Amino acid sequence: MGPITSNQFSKIAFNLRYTNKWLTTTKIVMLFFSAILVSCNNSGDPGLTEEEIDPGNEIIELEDIALSYSNHCGGCHGQDLGSFVEREWSYGNSMEEIIESIMEGYENNGMPAYGSTLSTQEIEVLTNYILTEIDGKTKEMLEEDNPDLSGLISSDDLSFRLETMTDEIPGIPWGIEQLPNGDILVTERGGRLFLVRNDKQLIEITGVPNVASQGQGGLLDVLIHPNFENNSLVYLSYSRVNPNNSSEHTTSVARARLEGNNLVEVENIFTALPYLNSTRHYGSRLLFDRDGYLYVSVGDRGYRDVYPQELDNYIGKVHRIHDDGQIPTDNPFYNTSGAVNSIFTYGIRNPQGMSLHPETGTLWEGEHGPRGGDEINILEAGNNNGWPVISYGINYDGTTFTDLTEMAGMEQPVYYWTPSIAPCGMTFVSGDFYGNWKNDLFVSSLKFEYLHRLKMNGNEVVGHETLLDGIGRVRDVQMGKDGYLYIAVEGPGRLIRLIPEQ
Ligand code: HEC
Repeated sequence: MGPITSNQFSKIAFNLRYTNKWLTTTKIVMLFFSAILVSCNNSGDPGLTEEEIDPGNEIIELEDIALSYSNHCGGCHGQDLGSFVEREWSYGNSMEEIIESIMEGYENNGMPAYGSTLSTQEIEVLTNYILTEIDGKTKEMLEEDNPDLSGLISSDDLSFRLETMTDEIPGIPWGIEQLPNGDILVTERGGRLFLVRNDKQLIEITGVPNVASQGQGGLLDVLIHPNFENNSLVYLSYSRVNPNNSSEHTTSVARARLEGNNLVEVENIFTALPYLNSTRHYGSRLLFDRDGYLYVSVGDRGYRDVYPQELDNYIGKVHRIHDDGQIPTDNPFYNTSGAVNSIFTYGIRNPQGMSLHPETGTLWEGEHGPRGGDEINILEAGNNNGWPVISYGINYDGTTFTDLTEMAGMEQPVYYWTPSIAPCGMTFVSGDFYGNWKNDLFVSSLKFEYLHRLKMNGNEVVGHETLLDGIGRVRDVQMGKDGYLYIAVEGPGRLIRLIPEQ
């Protein structure tokens, strides 16, 4: 956030006095000093502690408000309040309407209700904070605040530069996949597929299936067949509307042939049942293993206590299918009566990352935890990964849902983050371009807008480094077939190549 101007300050003070009779002049003076404090400090700084705010405390200082926003809201709405700037408000942007949105939430669309965990006073103050902070701001101004990453960037073991392949993806880039000729397919969540050519031209690919572009849904991952050079097959995961009930959606996979700049013979090969009235936790990463099996990750859709632990549905699972959607007969629950026979592992929350270990070929998965408890897991046939019976996280609103972090018969993560980083795409670095980065796991963070490098020794995390701090919400990170590492970043929609300095 930028410095608070005195004009903004008087507006906060005015609004607070206007809406909160408890605010005495002394408190306004305190507020003024904390405003100065905050203006010297970047409220979006992930270095802020996760200190909780005592709802019983009457005096809420501006510094606390920024912290409260950062703790409760910034992970989803942007630490820089980006999602509120130039927003087309669905539920209105008056004080009263916003307060109602925060109190009641829109649970099915991913907005938690805070009415029972934050005091009315804190909700009012948060609302004031949001309105004041976004007043007069444009998305363009936020982009100007992005750090300068144009020069040589040094990491613990390697210096590198960024090469922007395109910054013109209109919307949120979600998945990236390189073709054998070096061109790169990029999905845009709103429902469009683009090809970023070697010469940096951006071309739209037509023939994409209709997607339900609401909440976390839309056009999601993209993957090509291992034998793409001969069959031109492309796979897309997306949120699909129930043909019999337009308020229900689910994660689905379509397969098509890429012919010139068109998708042809588009065919749905996987649909995660049941369709649900929810627009979140689709999961939806796609990955082929070395034997040519296709893995599809499906999130819990926000139905934490209903589906992930039961085998009679597709929700909160990773599935293993053939390249045409048929079910391999050696799947772990193939012969289990009543079980969905595509299930590979279950007890999963919202898996938006998958990668094969470059040496062992094992399947690794990354998933969003609730508040805290984001996980990296190694997936083996038939595993129960424990969600929501065991978890290192708590609910977004600060309440708990389990005290257990371990249980017999449930797998432990290889690694977990508390506080959450909101991990999206992930990849192991392979090949020889990146020196000591080789076999390390790179995870993209939506919340902190950086790339997290987990330094690995075999299956063990032995060190950490964060790179490209503040670059924007990083949606995907992938090893290209050309041996380079690529990232897809939001605001503006960018595809970027990391070029190691020799
Ligand atoms: C887990 C992610 C998440 C968290 C955490 C979260 N929100 Fe939201 N919020 C959403 C989503 C998704 C929507 C859109 C819901 C919809 O369109 O129905 C939303 C909608 C809203 C709206 C209504 C916007 C409109 O268009 O009318 C407001 C206001 C809001 N959030 C404020 C907050 C505040 C303040 C916090 C922190 C106390 C917060 N949110 C925390 C995900 C989140």
